[in-house]
Amino acid sequence: MGTLVIDQVTKSFHRQKALHNVELQIPPGLFGLLGPNGAGKTTLMRIIATILQPDSGTIQYNGIDWRHNSREVRRILGYLPQHFGAFRNISAIECLDYIGILKGLDEKTERKRQIEAVLADVNLTEHAKKKVGTFSGGMLRRLGIAQALLGNPQIVMVDEPTAGLDPEERIRFRMLLRRCAQNRTVILSTHILEDIQTTCDGLAVLKQGNAHQFSDMQDLAAKARGRVWKLTVKAEDYDKFASTYKIISTLGTASGMDIRLLSDQRPSQDAEPVEPTVEEGYLTWINT
Ligand SMILES: Nc1ncnc2c1ncn2[C@@H]1O[C@H](COP(=O)(O)OP(=O)(O)OP(=O)(O)O)[C@@H](O)[C@H]1O
Ligand SMILES: [Mg+2]
Repeated sequence: MGTLVIDQVTKSFHRQKALHNVELQIPPGLFGLLGPNGAGKTTLMRIIATILQPDSGTIQYNGIDWRHNSREVRRILGYLPQHFGAFRNISAIECLDYIGILKGLDEKTERKRQIEAVLADVNLTEHAKKKVGTFSGGMLRRLGIAQALLGNPQIVMVDEPTAGLDPEERIRFRMLLRRCAQNRTVILSTHILEDIQTTCDGLAVLKQGNAHQFSDMQDLAAKARGRVWKLTVKAEDYDKFASTYKIISTLGTASGMDIRLLSDQRPSQDAEPVEPTVEEGYLTWINT
């Protein structure tokens, strides 16, 4: 295992820059890539997956340089794209067999052994013979992980895999990613903070093509330090505050509304400064 080093990666589409000098050092374990819509998460993943070429910059892992070794990179990499459209009319096992052949697992017995192992890893063994078209969103995502794990890659990338999953399935899916990251690098992109907060070892936030790596969750939370205020406002004054400040949370009480908001200055005499949450750090970071 090694560190995936992304150095000064830049990519434009026509004249629009999608990534600006992205620099990340991604260690083994589960790494979260967080960012709002259009931030550049998929573009970065497609570049790491060698589907897209960067305009400039380099990527390296264990002595493998992306500029000269795309075949080698594909051998050590598994990828679950954002819109994983699986083959609906074939069974899960047939789907994995087909993808296994595409990945170069030519030896039949070894391919069968690996398919059985990945199906067990993602808890789909008992559904292996069912048509993919009958799968729920969560099962489909798990099948997507299974195909990414074929060939036992050292780096696995999953692009927004939790979107559209119900809360229970989302928790199960996060645990699956955790398990997958025990002996490899797993990069998870998401715009859902909770996905990262509970499971990731490292994280970076992308905004408008600019990446910033944080040492941990507290490091991200600290971005809002000194900018989070708690106060109680009368119900009739709420709209005035809401139009001036970014309100983070609101709780109706007998005496009015308890609110938390982001502001560089104290918003009113009775506002108290409070310690920021990770969500407040994230909102501050992407809005400044
Ligand atoms: N093939 C393309 N041609 C032109 N522009 C593109 C292309 N792919 C991405 N872009 C643009 O690059 C920017 C980054 O897009 P990208 O899909 O990487 O963002 P994202 O963070 O994955 O967003 P989302 O959360 O919506 O999936 C956007 O402005 C997008 O419109
Ligand atoms: Mg995307």
